[in-house]
Amino acid sequence: MALTAVTLIAISILCTSRVQSIGVNWGTSASHPLPPSRVVELLKLNKISKVKLSDSNPQVLEALSGSTIDVTVGIPNSMLRTLNSSVKSAESWVHDNLTRYLSTHTRIEYIAIGDEPFLQRYGSQFYPYVVGAAINIEAALIRAKLSKNVKVVIPCSFDAFGSESGHPSTGHFRPDINKTMIEVLGFLTKTRSPFFVNISPFLSYYQNKNISLDFALFKETARPHNDTRRLYKNALELSYDTLFTALTVAGFPNIDIVISQIGWPTDGAPNATASNADIFTKGLLDYFHKRKGSPLRPRVMPLEIYIYTLLDEDQRNITAGNFERHWGLFTFDGQAKYQVDFGQSTKRMVNARSVEYFASRWCVVNNNINMSNATARAMEACTNADCTALSPGSSCFNLSWPGNVSYAFNSYYQQHDQRADSCDFGGLGMITTVDPSVGNCRFNVELKASFSVSLRGSKFDYPLIALVLTVWWLLDR
Ligand SMILES: *[C@@H]1O[C@H](CO)[C@@H](O)[C@H](O)[C@H]1NC(C)=O
Ligand SMILES: *[C@@H]1O[C@H](CO)[C@@H](O)[C@H](O)[C@H]1NC(C)=O
Ligand SMILES: *[C@@H]1O[C@H](CO)[C@@H](O)[C@H](O)[C@H]1NC(C)=O
Ligand SMILES: *[C@@H]1O[C@H](CO)[C@@H](O)[C@H](O)[C@H]1NC(C)=O
Ligand SMILES: *[C@@H]1O[C@H](CO)[C@@H](O)[C@H](O)[C@H]1NC(C)=O
Ligand SMILES: *[C@@H]1O[C@H](CO)[C@@H](O)[C@H](O)[C@H]1NC(C)=O
Ligand SMILES: *[C@@H]1O[C@H](CO)[C@@H](O)[C@H](O)[C@H]1NC(C)=O
Ligand SMILES: *[C@@H]1O[C@H](CO)[C@@H](O)[C@H](O)[C@H]1NC(C)=O
Ligand SMILES: *[C@@H]1O[C@H](CO)[C@@H](O)[C@H](O)[C@H]1NC(C)=O
Ligand SMILES: *[C@@H]1O[C@H](CO)[C@@H](O)[C@H](O)[C@H]1NC(C)=O
Ligand SMILES: *[C@@H]1O[C@H](CO)[C@@H](O)[C@H](O)[C@H]1NC(C)=O
Repeated sequence: MALTAVTLIAISILCTSRVQSIGVNWGTSASHPLPPSRVVELLKLNKISKVKLSDSNPQVLEALSGSTIDVTVGIPNSMLRTLNSSVKSAESWVHDNLTRYLSTHTRIEYIAIGDEPFLQRYGSQFYPYVVGAAINIEAALIRAKLSKNVKVVIPCSFDAFGSESGHPSTGHFRPDINKTMIEVLGFLTKTRSPFFVNISPFLSYYQNKNISLDFALFKETARPHNDTRRLYKNALELSYDTLFTALTVAGFPNIDIVISQIGWPTDGAPNATASNADIFTKGLLDYFHKRKGSPLRPRVMPLEIYIYTLLDEDQRNITAGNFERHWGLFTFDGQAKYQVDFGQSTKRMVNARSVEYFASRWCVVNNNINMSNATARAMEACTNADCTALSPGSSCFNLSWPGNVSYAFNSYYQQHDQRADSCDFGGLGMITTVDPSVGNCRFNVELKASFSVSLRGSKFDYPLIALVLTVWWLLDR
């Protein structure tokens, strides 16, 4: 009897710790983001108990206050230089962006210094400031007596380490950041913080043709990679051991690892589909729950993993690829793309509630008039609008001309709050109440959002537009 009780308690502890170590990344680079309170509700409904934010957006942190969700706040790369320059600036950052939310019971667990500052594509511009910024933030936390509860971490990108011919036993950090990485690891060891690393089987597959889709998707049937008699069955194990070797060579084999971003996009590239993302995510959670570890470190698991990402974001930078706007477990409006078992009682994903949309109206091309300018107009619309679903292999790639022109016009129209003048296009645009969506290709209607902070850093400068309109109105009188 007592034994059964003990077993039950043990099982329930195991189960809770299992569920709690999986989180999600929540970004707000969207033209019309779901309101933060709705997102927090979505997290709760789906039993997601950890989030990692890319910044310290006040509305997001306020929405999280009083919840039992553990939070990682991010410091943008653009602030690293200032934060390296003085402890004072770090103290004001902690005061403004941390202390007041902690006092409203937001459970802030980690501060991430920079958003992948070592990403190869950024060059060396952030290297000199990263460790200095981390040291200053840590000093500010100690002064504010917060260093026991809040840890400082430094997210490392998937391209910061590599190997010879894909053999994990030859893993090493990229030579240009090797020295900085050793300082980073020294700092983390001293403060007993884990190593945050992004791992991307999708990008390994997308960029390196030597990894098969099956190997990236955890399929049993994938051909294993053989590295000095160790057999690797999936791309995650391979990356994980490559990283482990790099850490060992650098002199830090025992540091705890947190996988801070891992996921699979559902549009914007061939094989970026919801069915592959479904297979990948199930494979990932299964791998994590089995706790088998990797060939070099059997039974040693990452402390936590953060799935990338919660929601699609239509304003994300697409330099790396059109898939960048389609990593969400949920669409931009909080509808699940596939099923993930986070421990919901129904084992099914719950969609966002009380989502408010603009009216059921779309902007399409009027094909009763001369359309010789339509392609040029669509291209123009696409410099602002989100046309990533039109790219090869994507959900709307099969739309033939002029369907793709309509897609571009509609995206622009929705991003501009369905204002009539944003469906003009030199007389080529026409508003319709008939949904032009076909098959998997969805013509979105945007969210009625009044979440202004997210527009910071996006292309739409509403105060400026308002000023221009006011001046125009005054002159017109
Ligand atoms: C970072 O801050 C330190 C301490 O203030 C300073 O000595 C160093 O020059 C700064 N680094 C850069 C690259 O500005
Ligand atoms: C708080 O963080 C935001 C960016 O996340 C930044 O713009 C602001 O300057 C920060 N406050 C201070 C005092 O550094
Ligand atoms: C590609 O993968 C195979 C299988 O593991 C390996 O033998 C080969 O060395 C790899 N080639 C390159 C160029 O990475
Ligand atoms: C990185 O630094 C470590 C420790 O100083 C050294 O052993 C290793 O060879 C270096 N690796 C590279 C690629 O420079
Ligand atoms: C892996 O490679 C080693 C040689 O490095 C070889 O002895 C072994 O048989 C290979 N294992 C498999 C399963 O291919
Ligand atoms: C998807 O991946 C498979 C297997 O790697 C490949 O054969 C196929 O060409 C890819 N799909 C597209 C549309 O490129
Ligand atoms: C996207 O990122 C690249 C650098 O990675 C930058 O050069 C470019 O200006 C960014 N684009 C936008 C629209 O912010
Ligand atoms: C459409 O307009 C173009 C000039 O913009 C003209 O060259 C073409 O003849 C017109 N087509 C028709 C069918 O009117
Ligand atoms: C196409 O655009 C050009 C330049 O904006 C304009 O002069 C022309 O009248 C347009 N043609 C049609 C048919 O709308
Ligand atoms: C596009 O059409 C081709 C041929 O009909 C079909 O094989 C393919 O699956 C379609 N692609 C998408 C993304 O719907
Ligand atoms: C639409 O399709 C036409 C013909 O395939 C192509 O020339 C044009 O660039 C496409 N437009 C967009 C916005 O994708």
